[in-house]
Amino acid sequence: VIKYLGSKRRLVPVIEDLLVRSGARTALDLFSGTTRVGRAFKARGARVTALDSTRYAEMLARCYIATDATQVDGDRLTAEVTRLNALPGRPGYVTATFCQTARFFQPFNGERIDAVRDDLETRRDDPLFPVLVTSLLEAADRVDSTTGVQMAYLKQWSDRSHKALELRVPDLIDGPGEAARGDALQMTGSLGSFDLAYLDPPYNQHRYLANYHVWETIVAWDDPEHYGVAQKRIECRDPTAASAFNAKASMPTALRQVVKEVNARVLVLSYNDESWMGLDDLVAACQLRGHVAVLGFDSTRYVGARIGIYDPSGRPVGTPGRLRNVEYLLVAGDEATVEHLVAPYAEARITVDGHQEGVNGGPAAQVGAGGSGHSTGA
Ligand SMILES: C[S@@+](CC[C@H](N)C(=O)[O-])C[C@H]1O[C@@H](n2cnc3c(N)ncnc32)[C@H](O)[C@@H]1O
Repeated sequence: VIKYLGSKRRLVPVIEDLLVRSGARTALDLFSGTTRVGRAFKARGARVTALDSTRYAEMLARCYIATDATQVDGDRLTAEVTRLNALPGRPGYVTATFCQTARFFQPFNGERIDAVRDDLETRRDDPLFPVLVTSLLEAADRVDSTTGVQMAYLKQWSDRSHKALELRVPDLIDGPGEAARGDALQMTGSLGSFDLAYLDPPYNQHRYLANYHVWETIVAWDDPEHYGVAQKRIECRDPTAASAFNAKASMPTALRQVVKEVNARVLVLSYNDESWMGLDDLVAACQLRGHVAVLGFDSTRYVGARIGIYDPSGRPVGTPGRLRNVEYLLVAGDEATVEHLVAPYAEARITVDGHQEGVNGGPAAQVGAGGSGHSTGA
């Protein structure tokens, strides 16, 4: 899996468990990114539809969600990966733009990325095309020279950038699925109906297209005009290409619209404490769909257990305001269903002032928005 801002690495087991407990046979992964969540749903037997606005995310979804492993000729796939790994380098756009002008990859790897992607461009109709382009993206990610976002590259080559680019066979999953690209604001209502929908929108100014412009260019393969030190695609500065979710003024309305329009029995919404929107506002938005439960997780343990908990000497153990990198899941739908889904997570349950009673009698948590750090999950 590529390094990705907001990747739901830590939460996947919980989100997957919610799907299993709901008995969902169909699931929507809206804002699918790396498709990490959609993949977990698919591996659990759900028929998944993935939507994201970027071309690279759509390509990842075409590989992991829309490609049915049972329909793939495994020998041919392995032979293709071997053949591509043996192609000699041939300098092109990636070498010139991302290795010589900018320094995202070492030129010896850039030449091979150019050669492999040029080769694949002649076979866009091959069912293996999305699988092989994904294999290339993942190989490039393993030898890049960044901290995980592509707004900048490292001054000194990273250790991993010295390694040779090596394509591997992606871990495909059995079963059919759908991959789509577009703006959730325009498309959500027309994607169909689902047993469960998982929503993981951006909540701040970090623009995915700009942060992952190298992936977008490797997928689009369109020799775009570029600008700035990072040599970003020209559309990264086009205001009409901006997501409503990346602007403080438009994000809350956009989020409310999508939450309202999704056609699903159960909605699971991811939220983190770097957001412009307060947790209570999000709860209010989700209440349009019925009953809402909030679960909070930090990297070490359930947040719910920390709030209002004291150490043996009677001192409070942390305060919500100081929590960092807390990830929340809001589960919305019919009350009996929601309560059944979150039952094993009583410890992680968060109460939001004025909206709900705590399930375990704890004090209502004032969970403030704020915090600035962000991390990428591999
Ligand atoms: C927090 S990330 C999702 C991460 C994903 N759940 C994962 O585990 O990799 C948010 C995603 O929303 C996408 N996005 C941003 N604005 C969008 C919009 N208006 N419509 C659809 N997708 C959008 C971004 O490209 C990004 O991949």
